Amino acid sequence: MTPVTGQRIPVALRERSYEIVLEPGSSRTLGDRLKKLIDRATIGIVTDRHVARHYLKPTVDSLKQAGFDSVPIVLPSGERTKTLATVARILDVLATHRFERRSLLVALGGGVIGDLAGFAASIYQRGISYVQVPTTLVAQVDSSVGGKTGVDHRLGKNLIGAFHQPKAVIIDPFMLHTLPRREWIAGLAEVIKYGIIADEAFFSFLEGSMPDLLKLDAQVVMRAVARSCEIKAEVVASDERESDRRRILNYGHTIGHALESLGGYRRLIHGEAVGIGLVAEADLAVHLGHCTTEVSTRIRRLVQSAGLPDRLPPRTSFGALWRAMQHDKKVVGGNVVGVWPLRIGDVVIRPVAEGACAEWFRTFEASSKRRKTGRRKT
Ligand SMILES: NC(=O)c1ccc[n+]([C@@H]2O[C@H](COP(=O)([O-])OP(=O)(O)OC[C@H]3O[C@@H](n4cnc5c(N)ncnc54)[C@H](O)[C@@H]3O)[C@@H](O)[C@H]2O)c1
Ligand SMILES: [Zn+2]
Repeated sequence: MTPVTGQRIPVALRERSYEIVLEPGSSRTLGDRLKKLIDRATIGIVTDRHVARHYLKPTVDSLKQAGFDSVPIVLPSGERTKTLATVARILDVLATHRFERRSLLVALGGGVIGDLAGFAASIYQRGISYVQVPTTLVAQVDSSVGGKTGVDHRLGKNLIGAFHQPKAVIIDPFMLHTLPRREWIAGLAEVIKYGIIADEAFFSFLEGSMPDLLKLDAQVVMRAVARSCEIKAEVVASDERESDRRRILNYGHTIGHALESLGGYRRLIHGEAVGIGLVAEADLAVHLGHCTTEVSTRIRRLVQSAGLPDRLPPRTSFGALWRAMQHDKKVVGGNVVGVWPLRIGDVVIRPVAEGACAEWFRTFEASSKRRKTGRRKT
């Protein structure tokens, strides 16, 4: 077998450009990598308790070996930590330790930690640098790239935030080995999404490699993470602030986000809701005449083969779903603006009206009930 080697993926954003370094074991040499990016500086390591248990000491040691002092900031794990109160707590630590403009934060964790640390970095002294060291699949293929940072408000998820690009994204796929199985599978929904929105060949590769991906085969994981990062980087570079093209990244998320919020963010984790969203939105796209059933069938099969849920949770009503879809930021004149596949690898952004969506919902709900599931309950 050929050895798994590293890869560098540029994110081209003019003066805010940076690199994604994807390399097995890269987290162990973090200190040396940072030496190339910054001068002597104090480094704050923002992380959560689960991640700290596995990776805080090696990170501190690696920084120390490279001559950096570090201050760990260990937060509780989970979405409930993603609040302004936690940001205030991070800022307190930075101020107490006299962090300066040239100090740096390392976001060592999943999307929750990346969003929190990035947001704290965006406002401390009007903006300091930060580096993403993503430890979940969701974070490695999605949240660590693109500079969207922020926190939740009790009236809405990600309601408060800022665009603040990291100085680098250092991805160590070895870190995925300690990730709980459920989180790993949830991340696959985002990987599948990239195939649907931008790359038919990648989608076919996933169709052929899903069993190996589920076994965390090193080569297959590298290719899946690398191609996902390339697509994300390319889309972000073409539309940094989500005015147009970046919206294609929301495929599967209009219904996905709605289902997540209807479950109170407890029933389904994000990627699971997106898994259902990928299937439901493809089915709706067929109903709206954007694509053939062959497209939606391929999407459903791949989502199923990843072990992701593909049916609406029991007792989902259209009224509640439509209301939740309205809360998405992509609503124009009462119509929800969605992303629809034309074929695998190509999508279009178009509004959908309530009536058409209601018609589709009845058929999808009925077929959801008919379909048997051999998969784990969510
Ligand atoms: N900024 C963006 O562009 C963007 C994009 C997608 C998602 N997000 C945000 O990301 C968040 C979800 O991120 P997530 O799915 O990474 O969840 P997460 O950060 O909550 O991590 C999931 C769980 O895995 C644990 N964990 C993380 N890495 C681990 C490892 N290597 N080994 C063992 N346990 C580990 C964490 O402690 C946590 O319990 C949401 O808040 C979402 O809004 C942001
Ligand atoms: Zn997502």
